[in-house]
Amino acid sequence: MSDPELRAAIPFGFTVKKMRDPIGWMRDEYNRLVEENLDWKIRELQGPSTPRAKIDGKEVIMLCSNNYLNLSNHPKLIKAALEAIKTHGVGSGSVRAIAGTMDLHLELERRLAKFKGAEASLTYSAGFTTNEGLIPTLVDKDDAIVSDELNHGSIIDGVRLTKATRFVYKHGDVADLERVLDDAEKEKPEKMLVITDGVFSMDGDIAPLDGIVKAAKPHGAMIYVDDAHGEAVLGKGGRGIVSHFNLTHKDVHFEMGTFSKAFGVMGGHVSGSRDMVNYALNKSRSWLLSASHPPATAAACIAAIDVLETEEEHVKTLWDNREYFVKGLQQMGFDTGFSQTPIIPAMCGESSKAVALSDGLFKEGILALPIVFPMVARDKARIRNMMNSGLTKDQLDTALAAYEKVGKQVGII
Ligand SMILES: Cc1ncc(COP(=O)(O)O)c(C=O)c1O
Repeated sequence: MSDPELRAAIPFGFTVKKMRDPIGWMRDEYNRLVEENLDWKIRELQGPSTPRAKIDGKEVIMLCSNNYLNLSNHPKLIKAALEAIKTHGVGSGSVRAIAGTMDLHLELERRLAKFKGAEASLTYSAGFTTNEGLIPTLVDKDDAIVSDELNHGSIIDGVRLTKATRFVYKHGDVADLERVLDDAEKEKPEKMLVITDGVFSMDGDIAPLDGIVKAAKPHGAMIYVDDAHGEAVLGKGGRGIVSHFNLTHKDVHFEMGTFSKAFGVMGGHVSGSRDMVNYALNKSRSWLLSASHPPATAAACIAAIDVLETEEEHVKTLWDNREYFVKGLQQMGFDTGFSQTPIIPAMCGESSKAVALSDGLFKEGILALPIVFPMVARDKARIRNMMNSGLTKDQLDTALAAYEKVGKQVGII
């Protein structure tokens, strides 16, 4: 309706000072993002997410996929998904609690718990909905949450949904965590929850989980780790961060993760005690009120666990490739920040340099995207490389040569 038509529709006797444009504010905000070059430019992946992929019509070496082990293209996962479609259809028909728990979902949870060395596991539709649905069930107004300052947005949103008092400690700093825990105790909370990412997705550093456990234990705090970027990457055969630090689920009560990254599929999960799982499935709204995975998804996740248990070479090659690439970048003068994992930043400083480096790399056939403000501080813009076990040495050399050429052009090295 045009403005005059709207005015004509207003009943006699009513006056409207200024017509409200219901969603005009969205256009204004979007235009502001575009002006400040902060809008997302969505690229089109034309085919599977493989180490060499086709994006916007161009063949590229992929350096920004979370598909660390290339399992999304593994024949065993594809076969399992296709077979599940034939035997179980394409949808589950319901939420887990009503009629949407299939044998495949239960089998996946049994297999995951065994893989993680936990009593029990529970799967959710996504990693995000795991954090968003589970965290608010763990604490209430008389409780305290102690959180790393660089935790993932899904943890932050989960924490926002609670009424607990929030405390933040300096990133990865156990001494500061101890100080904050003492501060939190002054409020006399009933329960305490310490929560951290396992591998931090912007820097690729690992949370000092052993130190966190040591600091939190005397307080009787629950410990929750989001290992989205650590599972199928860290620990024995990719068993994740709890295994990496030789801890157990008596130390770390919630080992949360996602099948959407190194597992190559989709879906969140949490592992720990049977009591924890029994509680979580009765309380998490994102579990109770959202449909369960399509059978193909659950079957592919089971196959991913099969692959991890029987083909240890994928995790090993991932780490070999990671070492090779980090060394290559460092030798040519790039600062790779705090990386300890297959997440490898190439630090650029200002956003414009990161954008210029990424654009230049794309022209050379390399897809490596910039991470700029507000995702990181204004002067900490970077390209974030995600290593992949499917990349050959030739492809890594091609990528490194492109980094050298464009890095010099842009004036970073
Ligand atoms: C640390 C962390 N937690 C949770 C998630 C969300 O996982 P999902 O993609 O399964 O929703 C991500 C994904 O970006 C992540 O990096």
